[in-house]
This record gives sequence, structure tokens and C-alpha cells, in this order.
Amino acid sequence: MGSLVLFLGIIFVSAIHSGHEPIASGREFVDPELIDKHEVFSKPGLHKVEGKDWDYELVFVVSAFNYNPGEVEIPKGAKVKIIATSRDVVHGFEIAQTNVNMMIEPGHISTFVKTFDKKGEYLLLCNEYCGTGHADMKSNIKVV
Ligand code: CUA
Repeated sequence: MGSLVLFLGIIFVSAIHSGHEPIASGREFVDPELIDKHEVFSKPGLHKVEGKDWDYELVFVVSAFNYNPGEVEIPKGAKVKIIATSRDVVHGFEIAQTNVNMMIEPGHISTFVKTFDKKGEYLLLCNEYCGTGHADMKSNIKVV
């Protein structure tokens, strides 16, 4: 009985306090309907930035069944902040042979800071089942 009360209490607190949203500090939100007008997501691709802890920002708009941009070239040694959101459903964001692995959720902004210090071609793929085109959902990241 005690543990039941405890569990219900935890659910109640998480529902009221955080609206059952996945919790992460500094979590940002974006309306999927307004992606094309959003100051960041209206310009997908790699952008050089100044005065931040990273050299580039790499913006992705993810939707069934593709990544925009579909191919990216990153200079070797660049410290890149990946910034991504989804237009529709939950997608995966895994860059093979690296530690980059995110869940991309509609309404949320997912970020990952990564230094690309090895030349090569890296496969970006979706590892969350998202529909009939899931298996073909990929992009190519070239570190040059
Ligand atoms: Cu997108 Cu699976």
C-alpha cells in the first residue's frame, strides 16, 4: 500500500510539476508548425559561429523519412553543436562510429556538442522506428 501511494505520488508530482515532459536542464521547445519561420530551423545546415564554446552549429530538420540537410561537409577538427528537431514523429539520430546518439522529438530541440577530429564519411541514421520509410532514413556526414 505504501509503495502504491509512493508511485502515485511520483506520477502526480511529475504530471503537475513538469507536465509529463521528458526532463532535461535547459530544455528548449519549438512549435513544429513554425519550423520554417523559426530563426534557427529555417536555415538547416552548417553555420560558422563566433564567441561560443563551439566553432559551428549544425542545424537539422528531421521528418519522415529524411534528414535536412541530406549531406554535410565538416572541416576536420571542428567543434560542432548539432541542433535538431522533428516535424512529425519521434526519430533517431545516430552517427555511426561516434558517440552521437539522440532522440529527435517533435516540439523539442535536441542538441549534442561533438568535435570531429577524424577524417572520413559517417553515416547518420534513424534508430527509432518511425514508419514505412524508416529503413531508408539516412544522411551522410563527411569530415574533410
Ligand atoms: Cu525516422 Cu526511423
